[in-house]
Amino acid sequence: MRKFVLGALVFAFLSTLSLNGFAKDNATKGKAPKKLTKEQIAKLRDVFDNYGCSGCHMYMHKDSTSGPAVAVIAALAKAKPKKWVISWIMDPKKHYNEPDVKALIHQYVQYMPNNGVNKKDAEKLYEYLMAVADGLVK
Ligand code: HEC
Repeated sequence: MRKFVLGALVFAFLSTLSLNGFAKDNATKGKAPKKLTKEQIAKLRDVFDNYGCSGCHMYMHKDSTSGPAVAVIAALAKAKPKKWVISWIMDPKKHYNEPDVKALIHQYVQYMPNNGVNKKDAEKLYEYLMAVADGLVK
């Protein structure tokens, strides 16, 4: 019960922040979903799996104790400026003190580690998360 109340609070909090993110982010705001072939999506998914992202961010489960589900982080990423997401993927530690990140850390009792992602792959991971958010990944 306590966990549920906390979850609801975090959700309400994140929703507000997401709206702020939308207002600030004109780059991705209202952008039509990018068209990707099945092969392109499979390649992007390989990058996500090869870095071990899917070890913590589950496909099937809504959530896990090690991290938010893929669909959840995709929605979070879509609500934020691309620059922020790339920076997060390459070096999450830089953002641990931001209030919305703190709320997630509190909820999952876990810090997302630095996974040694380079800029080129961070761009691919971003593209993958946008594809998930746009419902292109079945
Ligand atoms: C060891 C577990 C773990 C691994 C591996 C991991 N993450 Fe995370 N991730 C988390 C946790 C936990 C959070 C919630 C924030 C926090 O507690 O640090 C998170 C949050 C996120 C978010 C949402 C950030 C926000 O606040 O909007 C994105 C996007 C993300 N992860 C992408 C990735 C990608 C891409 C990879 C692979 C390069 C990855 N994660 C690997 C645990 C992990």
